[in-house]
Amino acid sequence: MATHKLLLLPGDGIGPEVMAEVKRVIDWLDRRGVASFAIEEDLVGGAAYDSCGLPISEEAMAKAFAADAILLGAVGGAKWAHVNYEVRPEAGLLRLRKDLQLFANLRPAVCYPALADASSLKRELVEGLDVLIVRELTGGVYFGEPKTITDLSDGQKRAIDTQIYESYEIERIARVAFELARTRRNKVVSTEKHNVMKTGLLWKQVVSEVHGSSFEDVALEHQLADSCGMQLVRAPKQFDVIVTDNLFGDILSDVAAMLTGSLGMLPSASLGGVEEVSGRRRALYEPVHGAAPDIAGKGLANPIAMVGSLAMALRYSFGELEAADRIEAAIAGVLAGGVRTADIYSEGKTRVGTAGMGDAILAELDKAA
Ligand code: IPM
Ligand code: MN
Repeated sequence: MATHKLLLLPGDGIGPEVMAEVKRVIDWLDRRGVASFAIEEDLVGGAAYDSCGLPISEEAMAKAFAADAILLGAVGGAKWAHVNYEVRPEAGLLRLRKDLQLFANLRPAVCYPALADASSLKRELVEGLDVLIVRELTGGVYFGEPKTITDLSDGQKRAIDTQIYESYEIERIARVAFELARTRRNKVVSTEKHNVMKTGLLWKQVVSEVHGSSFEDVALEHQLADSCGMQLVRAPKQFDVIVTDNLFGDILSDVAAMLTGSLGMLPSASLGGVEEVSGRRRALYEPVHGAAPDIAGKGLANPIAMVGSLAMALRYSFGELEAADRIEAAIAGVLAGGVRTADIYSEGKTRVGTAGMGDAILAELDKAA
């Protein structure tokens, strides 16, 4: 059996708590001989800053390059609000994305039937929802230069962020979206602001060209990003795959996540290109939710997005489809059985904390084994 080199970066806030539940699932898979892992662990975000003054150390970066896949918890928190911008916790995550060239961020928003009532939208609008947001992750306004705040002579200040896209960046993310659509319901909505932004204009052009040259069997629609946001809350089930830039993808994926009931439910994958020699695709998996400092350390956090991120790693990086299926089925089983953390709790259900949800997932895995 192949041994998978997995790097765990629990990070800040609720990151370590939800990662602890993932470790129990990893142990279970190892013990049962379902999959085999070589685990490394390191610090990222504020935790790394506190230990070495950087949001990720060079040693941790080296481990990241050596790993078959990375699982990351969350970064950030008020404790680090005043640290130098260059070394803020988020910079550790952004460096991982950029240096490993993880350009394709897959954020599925799937509404479990058992949770349709936890959504802020009506049950009939979200029941059966299955949208995949494909977010460009290494370009756009997140990384464009100049990125500055300067003092002006009249006492005013000027802040600049720069949105840049080159055609190759749009082309490769469009290909990922079209290829994934072929494995789903064969429909892509591409979203940008070509009515205001040059990058939007180029985005629309390049996506259309990629479609015309290689993917005419996939249905393609262009929507302006504001309208797409509106459609997401008006009639979310019209969407299959949404492909968009780094910033719009950040915003739209939080919206899509909340449609499913809770931010605590959704995993994500950030994938790079395929390396020529090894044939390996660099990959980092993380929950869509953040560090949630308000509930950190209290054992309240929902570990499902984190455990679901392990399932995505098994599926996309390790080809362990059976193990991935087992975990996803266990999560669905736990929800169908009425077990709920606070974020998805409703009357009449069994309320548990982080470890309690971990217990329930393990019990479900045992039951099915
Ligand atoms: C996300 C987060 C990050 C982002 C932050 C933590 C830098 O919100 O992964 O969606 O903006 O990309
Ligand atoms: Mn975000």
